[in-house]
Amino acid sequence: MTVLTALAIVVFVTAWIFSSRSRRRGLPSPPGPKGLPLIGNLLDFPATFQWLTFEKWHKQYGDIVYLNLAGQSLVILGSPEATSAFFEKKSGVYSDRPRFVMINELVGWEEFAIGSYRYGNAWRELRRVFHQQYHSGVIPPYHPVFRRHAHRLLHNLLTEPKELEQHLLHTASAVILDTMYGIDVVDRDDPYVTIAEKAMEVIVEAINPGAFLVDSFPALKYVPSWFPGAEFQRKALRWKAFMKDMLNKPFEAVKDDMQQGRAVSSIAATMLQEISQDDEEHSEYIIKAVGGASYAAGSDTTSATTQVFALAMAMHPQVQARAQAELDAVVGPDRLPDFDDRPNLPYVNAILKELTRWLPVVPLAVPHAALSDDEVRGYFIPKGTIVLGNSWSILRDPVRYPEPDQFKPERFLTKDESLATDVPDPSIAAFGYGRRICPGRHFSDSSIYLLVACMLATFNISPPIGEDGAPIKITAEMSAGAVLRPARVDYIVKPRSDAAIDLINKTVAFQ
Ligand code: HEM
Repeated sequence: MTVLTALAIVVFVTAWIFSSRSRRRGLPSPPGPKGLPLIGNLLDFPATFQWLTFEKWHKQYGDIVYLNLAGQSLVILGSPEATSAFFEKKSGVYSDRPRFVMINELVGWEEFAIGSYRYGNAWRELRRVFHQQYHSGVIPPYHPVFRRHAHRLLHNLLTEPKELEQHLLHTASAVILDTMYGIDVVDRDDPYVTIAEKAMEVIVEAINPGAFLVDSFPALKYVPSWFPGAEFQRKALRWKAFMKDMLNKPFEAVKDDMQQGRAVSSIAATMLQEISQDDEEHSEYIIKAVGGASYAAGSDTTSATTQVFALAMAMHPQVQARAQAELDAVVGPDRLPDFDDRPNLPYVNAILKELTRWLPVVPLAVPHAALSDDEVRGYFIPKGTIVLGNSWSILRDPVRYPEPDQFKPERFLTKDESLATDVPDPSIAAFGYGRRICPGRHFSDSSIYLLVACMLATFNISPPIGEDGAPIKITAEMSAGAVLRPARVDYIVKPRSDAAIDLINKTVAFQ
């Protein structure tokens, strides 16, 4: 047994005793799998694809499931009624975040990442600024950026059709860097992209549940970096440098451009113009925080969703053909789809909804935490309980969405082909809950719409061909991680016609 493991055991025995004391008021805990003495459900907790196990537990125990992870209470919510009872009706209690020791306290991300801020005034201030930059009314001015990158994606697919997945990753990063800082990255290995992607890898690895013992046993954070077994401390130091680059380098570039009078329009440039001189340091911190969090929260989620689109089209050629027929009828062959077309494209809109329902890329949202002891539906929820909205189960509920495993955009349409109002929109869960709901959802909805409509109008995406000359059967296989994304597939991406090639070539994307 290493010294660290021994230390961890001491810490969790203390936590267990402490948590037992807090069970009170004679109210029961919500139902859940029976745990073992001391460690509770630690051994039941799945290492990967947790939402699949949670879905089984919901079937067995109901829509509120309770786990005890060696003294840490965890509640999993598996229905819109349950998420509403916690995150909306009791939003004052359930808008906090748990401690993310590795990423926040050791890597130092907590100063900047609104997503992991504890609930309070600092979060409120940053959330207000986020809202100002990303609410639905301010999205249209970003349309030229979305358009430029959608058109560029088509050019890139013409020249490198085998690199679809890489292009989708790059496009998502490029859209954020462009809107946030006015930095127009054309090359996939542009240093700004590399900086941001390195930081992204850090975040994904650091918040992967169970990746670091120190998240379960925070006292370990005081173990010095030279201590045997304390590799996590050395990693945290290396990662700190990546995060600093991501927060500072693009920001300094915009500031420098402004001083030289050559800054282009961007969120950072606008915010810098409005900066108050008597509070310069704090204002600069806010801009960096908005930039860092936009990249961290918006880039991977957006690219994963467009990758789900590619997978869905390759698996369902009839859906792709029907969407293309709609685009041909509404937009015609002489131009690319644009934002004005959207209200006339119900089937494309239904595909967008079905993408977020079928494979929600953040299947458990981001954990919330209880700020105080509470009671919901007659159950006792102790202060500090981690509360997860199980978006996966909610969006695969067979009552609201019959045959939930099937990719069926038409579930969102009425008989006369308009968008149905009686089928719950996947945004009831796909973008999280209550006061912490994703503030970038209108931004991503608009940018993903144009990427999807432009790809559908000009390309066919199909599965790879096997040695026997037949298409290889692909399935909805996903890779586990903080953001869920489809496993790699070598899609065949072909322009739909010579007219589509001409149209792309005529479209100016590189200016
Ligand atoms: C398809 C794309 C996206 C998906 C599926 C998505 C999903 C989510 C989810 C599930 C949460 C957690 C909400 C909760 O705690 O209940 C979240 C939070 C957040 N998202 Fe998004 N997101 C997307 C795009 C974006 C974009 C483009 C941005 C910014 C430009 C963004 C910024 C944020 C921020 C800052 C938070 C933290 C909010 C807080 O803690 O108050 N997201 N997102």
